[in-house]
Amino acid sequence: MRTALVPLPRKLEERDGSFRLVPGAAIGFEGPGSAREIAELLAEYLRPATGFALPVREGAGAVTLVQTASDPAPDDAGFLPEDYALDVAPGGVRIEAATSWGLARGVQTLRQLFPPETYGAEARPGVAWEAPSVRIEDAPSLRWRGLMLDVSCHFFSADDVCRFVELLAQHRMNVFHWHLTDDQGWRVEIRKYPRLTEVGSVRAETLVGHADRYPRRFDGIPHGGFYAQDDIRRVVAFAARRRVVVVPEIDMPGHMCAAIASYPELGNGEWAHPAVLSVWGISRHVLNMEESTLAFCKDVWDEVMELFPSRFLHVGGDEAPRREWEESKRAQALMAERGLTRPEQLQAWFTKELDAFFRSRGRRLLGWDEILEGGIDPSAAVAAWRVGWKGWDYVDAAARAGHDIVLATNSHAYFDYYQDEPVAEEPLAICGMIPTSKVYAFDPRIPSAPPDAARRVLGGQGQLWTEYIATRDHLDYMAYPRACALAEVLWTPPERRRYAGFLDRLSAHRARLGVQGVAAHPRP
Ligand code: ACM
Repeated sequence: MRTALVPLPRKLEERDGSFRLVPGAAIGFEGPGSAREIAELLAEYLRPATGFALPVREGAGAVTLVQTASDPAPDDAGFLPEDYALDVAPGGVRIEAATSWGLARGVQTLRQLFPPETYGAEARPGVAWEAPSVRIEDAPSLRWRGLMLDVSCHFFSADDVCRFVELLAQHRMNVFHWHLTDDQGWRVEIRKYPRLTEVGSVRAETLVGHADRYPRRFDGIPHGGFYAQDDIRRVVAFAARRRVVVVPEIDMPGHMCAAIASYPELGNGEWAHPAVLSVWGISRHVLNMEESTLAFCKDVWDEVMELFPSRFLHVGGDEAPRREWEESKRAQALMAERGLTRPEQLQAWFTKELDAFFRSRGRRLLGWDEILEGGIDPSAAVAAWRVGWKGWDYVDAAARAGHDIVLATNSHAYFDYYQDEPVAEEPLAICGMIPTSKVYAFDPRIPSAPPDAARRVLGGQGQLWTEYIATRDHLDYMAYPRACALAEVLWTPPERRRYAGFLDRLSAHRARLGVQGVAAHPRP
């Protein structure tokens, strides 16, 4: 096997001979300024391990990036075309694409053709920097190919987050969904409401062992951390260079204990005010549905929108129990005022207000599939996560109603679930069993949906909830190699996917991960 590309390109022709990168090589670019940006990125990728200067210059180089047009405006979901052609021949390398997004994907494929040492952070003298001759014509099957990282249950530094983004970009994924707030910690600085991070970013201690196990034990150690707005800008810029979109999630109206602990007026006052939670699960505490709370949330989103240029903004919306609203006289009065008869309509009222607010700013709302309960404008997109429990019918219905769909399903794409037997020998995980083989078997289509509805599937993403994931190595272990399988499921057309072939390529691909210190699960 001369090439071991993950994900497998749409069309790959292996040819005789190879290209060798030598010390005097330059990286050339032709086309608009965005081609220069991607050429700079490629040079930056190749310099540390090769130790070569690799100057970037306009015109032909040993490696030449050609962008045949200027980047168009993003489509209605925020994406640009990503197709590219890559020619590697003894005389030189050429990557051609109509957009900088295509060039960025081609650059990742080219890196995989060089020896795995290419991914090293330090000079590796004595390596022959050769890439086998190929002709590749490539394009993704689906537009949205991502990973979600929860930084609330456990905080990960901005450097760790950049590394997470870099690794997903290497798999030609293009969305980083950043779950920034939850009951266990508020992680994004909001200038107007400093207590969100002063109070909300620290919990007193953390549960030891599984949440299902009683009596509960705690570690007695405060856990905290948050991103200053400059940290956020750094991550967003890091991702943008790689043509990865960062979609921020501020989960509301449930999973809001950290915010309510910071500003008790956001809660349902008759009830005890929560602290930032030290346990995992679904809290009964939710935001109250006052106009003032909506205004608070819009203020937060104003600052979030300044930081994140993504078309989609994720409002969460999952697991918001209605009990507080059912038992609150004030919530009942608000329902009556608004002509609502069922408590779930309060969440629908709130989400619709945010949806209109986002649309007035040229943005679009995305939420977990609970946002469908109580109705929402079809322009809102839905992250379908409960397919493993509920089946596909509700996803089919949502797509038919005109909602764009991101497949984030707990049947195949929850990477916080166990991945191997025996479970007793694996690190503690939340539940479930989703081995890499199961991820690879995922068919990212809505069964039985007619073509119009089927086209609503933007793509999919893997979920890394971090209740039981506290370190970078453990995060690697849960994400990889399952994310490799998911990247291929979302990129490579179904008729090209074969698990045996994937496993062959994965065994070579592991060397690339290994050079970067990725603590991937050793199997399969
Ligand atoms: C979720 O897993 N609560 C979206």
